[in-house]
Amino acid sequence: MYKEGFNLLSEEKTIIITKEKEKYVGMGITRADAKEKVKGTAKYVRDIIPTRCYYAKIVRSTKPHAKILKIDVSEALAITGVITVLTADDIPGVNFVDAIIPDKPFLAKNEVNYVGEEIAIVVATSKEIAEIAAEKVKVTYQELPYKISIDEEDIKERIICDIGLEKGDIDSGFKNSDFVVEATFETGSQEHAYIEPQGAFVDATGDIIDVKAATQCPYYVQKNVSKILGVPLNKVKVTATVVGGGFGGKEEDPSWIAALCALASYKVKYPVALIYNRDEDILATSKRHESLTKIKIGADKDGKFQAIQATVYLNGGAYGTISPAVLFLAVHMVPGPYCWPNVKVDGYAVKTNRPPSGAFRGFGAPQALFAIESAIDMLADKMNMSPIELRLINGLENKRETAAGHQLGNDVGFKETLLKAKTMSDFDKKWLNYKAQKDVAIKRGIGVAGGWLSMGLGPGGYLEDRGVVLTQFTTDGKLLVHLNLIEMGQGMQTVVKQMAADIFGLNINDVEVIVIDTLSLPDTGPTVASRTTLVMGNAIMIAAQKLKPKILRIAAEILKEPPKNLEIIDSAVVSLIDKSKSIPLTEVIREGYAKHEAFIELGWYVPPKPFVNEKGVGEPFYGYAFATHVAEVQVDMRTGKVDVLRVWAVHDSGKIINPVTASGQVEGGIVQGMGLALYENFVYSNGVMVNNNFTDYIIPSVKDVPEIKVFFVETFFEEGTFGSKGIGEIPLATIIPAITNAISNAIEKRVTKIPLTPEDLYFLIRKNNQ
Ligand code: MTE
Ligand code: MOS
Repeated sequence: MYKEGFNLLSEEKTIIITKEKEKYVGMGITRADAKEKVKGTAKYVRDIIPTRCYYAKIVRSTKPHAKILKIDVSEALAITGVITVLTADDIPGVNFVDAIIPDKPFLAKNEVNYVGEEIAIVVATSKEIAEIAAEKVKVTYQELPYKISIDEEDIKERIICDIGLEKGDIDSGFKNSDFVVEATFETGSQEHAYIEPQGAFVDATGDIIDVKAATQCPYYVQKNVSKILGVPLNKVKVTATVVGGGFGGKEEDPSWIAALCALASYKVKYPVALIYNRDEDILATSKRHESLTKIKIGADKDGKFQAIQATVYLNGGAYGTISPAVLFLAVHMVPGPYCWPNVKVDGYAVKTNRPPSGAFRGFGAPQALFAIESAIDMLADKMNMSPIELRLINGLENKRETAAGHQLGNDVGFKETLLKAKTMSDFDKKWLNYKAQKDVAIKRGIGVAGGWLSMGLGPGGYLEDRGVVLTQFTTDGKLLVHLNLIEMGQGMQTVVKQMAADIFGLNINDVEVIVIDTLSLPDTGPTVASRTTLVMGNAIMIAAQKLKPKILRIAAEILKEPPKNLEIIDSAVVSLIDKSKSIPLTEVIREGYAKHEAFIELGWYVPPKPFVNEKGVGEPFYGYAFATHVAEVQVDMRTGKVDVLRVWAVHDSGKIINPVTASGQVEGGIVQGMGLALYENFVYSNGVMVNNNFTDYIIPSVKDVPEIKVFFVETFFEEGTFGSKGIGEIPLATIIPAITNAISNAIEKRVTKIPLTPEDLYFLIRKNNQ
């Protein structure tokens, strides 16, 4: 809390910062990484490959499920320029990748479980030779039955993990309900479509294995390389290169991609690069979990929610890897940002013969919110009530309890987002008008959806949920903030810079934020779960708490004024009592160095510990962001084509550190969500994905982007720095049901399955019995 005054030398544990200290926080300053990205000088992994380097190419399974009878590498090895071909037998360490469920073999040995699974690594003097040779590795298979999608028939035999949430008594809840709706909702998988495909460059010729990779999670890469090569962590230096988008897709996959490259370099004792082609990347890397959710909700005659029952199935793909974490979030998010006295949710991740499903922006929440927010609209229809009204009756507020029994604090801005979105979009009037549209060829619709999303890694990930920074001053008085959470386009570097400048009282040009490597900073966890602003802000606070008093003490001696009267403002130490007394920070630091003062401090922040009991009830996360989106669409009733015309996106992400980058997150999330709602669709034929390219796999383009109005309802989140929460994922999850509810408003039929391609919508419009 930033109440009154700023006194670092007192015994107080928490740092206290006055409101006036917010100089850069809240400003839409230019991104720290803008220039290098616009000019094209940023160094992505493929830009750092030296000429003295070999190239690796992965031999992949062409079968969705098969026994491997034989791997014949002789023809490949005979090609000039081929250095070696490595298989599971060449692994010095453990042949399993590290993950929540560590069941994925690093290189398949006896069996393959999806098309694209890694079997062997070809190392050659050029990328072209490696590619030709990879084709010549002959794998003999004995094919086995496979499953691509979730269907309920044999689900019991294919469960990877299950997670439940139960509170109150749903039977009595439904008994007290005057209105009940029940439906099944399905969502498709999704490709991350980052601009930069996956890749790594490894030099294992020295004592330290030097890994450079496009990754959100350098410490995951470090652990995997260590496990697969059988070397300790202090021998593995992982540096994230500039990441050309991650969206969750560079959370788990780089762990094995970089390790494949590391094994190659380690074995041939030469630097090796491994850069995926786009078709290979789409075919073989993780995707969003496809889902099937059965949901039943009930409300009394006044519209008060009484009970929710849901069963969530996620298509986990071939191996467990990260599915338990995604399932945990889906189960906890499916009740939405509402008060529910009686709750029962059962979640299952199901094994199929696809690449292991992975982290993807929203992490189970888009699937969950599509189900609940559609069901709420169905209930509103049944009750003849405005969908916003029904949400206002039940929405979470300060001090109220979530479905999991988590009593919230004073940072719940959900209802404010609903009210603001309602007035901004003129919702009620349009909603009624569009409902009454005549039978015309082109119809309009408007839809609303509430959204919420947790921050942080939850109870399961708590052990690695922390923020670590190393702060230091150069001899000329500039601040270096060393960290190892990753900038992947979300604007992390910029908001960290703003927070650091205000926490230390510096001019922003005197602050440098530098991403360092895994050997230079202790494991600070993954760059996921919209947690970076929170954990980094707090870590900098803690470091400042130790570093600032040193500066003030030195300045006190020079200015002959007690430290408690001094403050750092605009990179100068000034007296708060006698304004004429001031000295540039440069001089204080120079003087301090002369006295051998150590201007370096570590900030180590541990967030509040989440917990749940065996029923899933407790405090599963340390915070929640809230939102309301309204979408206005146009539907061509003849062809099923949808145009999203306008979106009003109102967000409570606490204090907004940078309104420009935050709006960018909302806009980008909306467009990525539109892809999941309307376009993105994998096509499989005989267990093989056939549209692994951006010609046949359709993502939104600039021409599809609607007019987007973003508004922030700023609450104050006590655990966040300056009161901030996260914003990176919630927009994607909230927009989807807003769009499908708008379509349902236009066509007077319920959308229950996404992506809603024009073909699907064409047939839905013509379906009679709905
Ligand atoms: N925005 C861009 N431009 N690129 C990305 O890769 N990843 C998203 C989101 N926004 C992503 C992005 C995902 S999946 C997460 S978890 C958050 O950013 C992480 O950001 P934060 O931890 O800095 O809030
Ligand atoms: Mo984001 S899916 O948590 O990387």
